[in-house]
This record gives sequence, structure tokens and C-alpha cells, in this order.
Amino acid sequence: MESYLPVRATLTAIDRRLADHLFTLVPAEPLAVQPGQFVELSLPGLGAFAVSSCAAAHPAAVRLCIRRAGRVTAALYELDEGAVLGLRGPFGNGFPLAAFADRDVLLLAGGLGMAPLMGLLETLLQQRSAYREITVLNGARDPASLLFRPELEALAAQGLIRAAFSVDFAGDEAAATLLAGCRVGLVAGLLGTVPLRPAQTTAAVCGPPAMYSCVLPQLEELGLAAAAIYATLERRMRCGVGHCCHCVTGGVFVCRSGPVFALDELRRLDGAI
Ligand SMILES: Cc1cc2nc3c(=O)[nH]c(=O)nc-3n(C[C@H](O)[C@H](O)[C@H](O)COP(=O)(O)OP(=O)(O)OC[C@H]3O[C@@H](n4cnc5c(N)ncnc54)[C@H](O)[C@@H]3O)c2cc1C
Ligand code: FES
Repeated sequence: MESYLPVRATLTAIDRRLADHLFTLVPAEPLAVQPGQFVELSLPGLGAFAVSSCAAAHPAAVRLCIRRAGRVTAALYELDEGAVLGLRGPFGNGFPLAAFADRDVLLLAGGLGMAPLMGLLETLLQQRSAYREITVLNGARDPASLLFRPELEALAAQGLIRAAFSVDFAGDEAAATLLAGCRVGLVAGLLGTVPLRPAQTTAAVCGPPAMYSCVLPQLEELGLAAAAIYATLERRMRCGVGHCCHCVTGGVFVCRSGPVFALDELRRLDGAI
């Protein structure tokens, strides 16, 4: 029952440059979140919500990219450095790193989906030679909303990855400079613009449900095996440990068996996609 108890965590940094802010927390006890796993972040007296890590696992610090969505996240946005919050977890299975080893890696993100994929990418880069070509396709609604673009461009400039960006809308005049280097259209449109070797590629996809319904079949049509396409399922999590049943989908606890599933597993879960 230990994981029901939150660990005290101090908010040490808030990066407010983008609409979705980045929060760094230092837990009072070591808490390493593997890529694709999630934690429950609680604001005392207000509530808690599930959030993935957007950095490689580090026991001394947890980095989260959080969108202001509703009551609890809005309250978080009002806090300053030094605030003390609660962290429970880590929960869930995370991405299976062995499935990416010695393979080309394709990371395909829509909007906030780039957050957990950034955690995965940082982890892969810690052992860069264990993976072949790494391609990141990152889409957002407008140029100013693209997460981690400078970081991805810097990695591409070093030859460590290939990166391509897309935006649904060109944005206003102020966004014109940011638009350079972005394709206008849905992120799925980027798939035709980069050379892929489907038979030797493992993909990780993260984004809104509407993106899954078009991107996952498209990856299969390109020749990727369903067992080599991983996606994360977002459900209303509460306990994170298989007790409250809030996350049950197709008869499985998404908080325990997921949130990362291969496409062939997802197809067996009624109502998953
Ligand atoms: C495994 C997992 C990982 C997540 N990772 C991140 C992350 O890295 N960054 C981030 O900003 N958010 C993430 N989320 C979503 C985050 O948990 C919700 O946005 C959060 O619960 C909102 O809390 P709130 O009290 O501010 O909003 P609420 O008032 O609870 O909700 C605001 C709106 O968002 C909807 N909503 C809330 N949670 C979900 C959900 N899980 N699925 C679908 N709709 C939802 C509500 O129906 C409502 O319309 C993740 C969720 C899960 C399950
Ligand atoms: S979140 Fe409670 S059972 Fe999954």
C-alpha cells in the first residue's frame, strides 16, 4: 500500500516560455520515473492528477510538462518555486527499451504527446550506439505550441537524430518566424517526408485519440509490424495501482498493464482506440 503515500516534493524550477509549462520537482526520497511511466502529482487540499515524465529517469529530480487543463492544473500554474507538493509513483509499465534496441526508432508526437516521448528520447540518447536511425516527428496546433523544438533541432544539428515539425495552423504574423522549417498540416503528413525502413523500425506514438485513429493504421500500411508500434493510452487515473477501476479498458487496468501498449495488444482491448 506504500504507493498510496505521496512523497513530499519541492518545486524547484518553472519554465514558462511556452503555454505548456515545464516543472522541475525535487522529491524528498529518490523517485525515478522511467519513460512512459507516470506519477500522480498532488496539490494539498485540492487534488491530484496523472502526468508522465518528460525527461530520462533521475532519482533526484522529476521533470514534467503540464498543460493547464482544469481545476488542479490551473492551481499549479499559480504556484511559485519553493512550493511543496506531493508525488506518488512511479506507476505503469513504461516503454519497453529492448523493443527499440538495434532498430531504427520513430517517435511520432502530437501536441503534449511530445512530453513522454522526450523522456524516451533522452533515455535512448544515454546509449546512442544501441539504436540505429532515430527520427522524431513532432506536430502541434501552431508554431508557438511545438514542445522541445530547440532541443530537438540541436540534437539534429549534432547528427544524433532526424527531426521534422508540423503545425495544424500557420498561426498569426508573430508566429511567422517560428513557422520556418515547419510543414503546415497534420503530423501524419510528415510520414511521407522522411526516409523510413519500416521492417527494421520500432515506433512510439503519443498524442490525442483522434491522431491515433489515423496514424496507427498509416504506420502499418507503411510496413511497420503492429507489434513494433507502441502507443500510450490516456485514461482518467486515480489510484494508479489497480484498486479504483477508473482506468479499466477492455478488461485491463491501464494504470498497471499500460499506459504503453503495442498496437496488436490495443486491438485486443475493447474500446481502447
Ligand atoms: C498516463 C497519463 C499521463 C499524462 N501525462 C500528462 C502530461 O505529461 N502532461 C499533462 O499536462 N497532462 C498529462 N495527462 C493528463 C492530465 O492527467 C490531465 O490533464 C489532468 O488530470 C487535468 O487535471 P485538472 O484537475 O487540471 O483538470 P480536470 O478538471 O480534471 O479536467 C480538465 C479537462 O480535461 C479532461 N481530462 C482530464 N484528464 C483526462 C484524461 N486522463 N483523459 C482525457 N481527458 C481528461 C477533463 O474531462 C476535462 O474536460 C496525463 C494523463 C494520463 C492518464
Ligand atoms: S487508476 Fe485506479 S485502477 Fe487504475
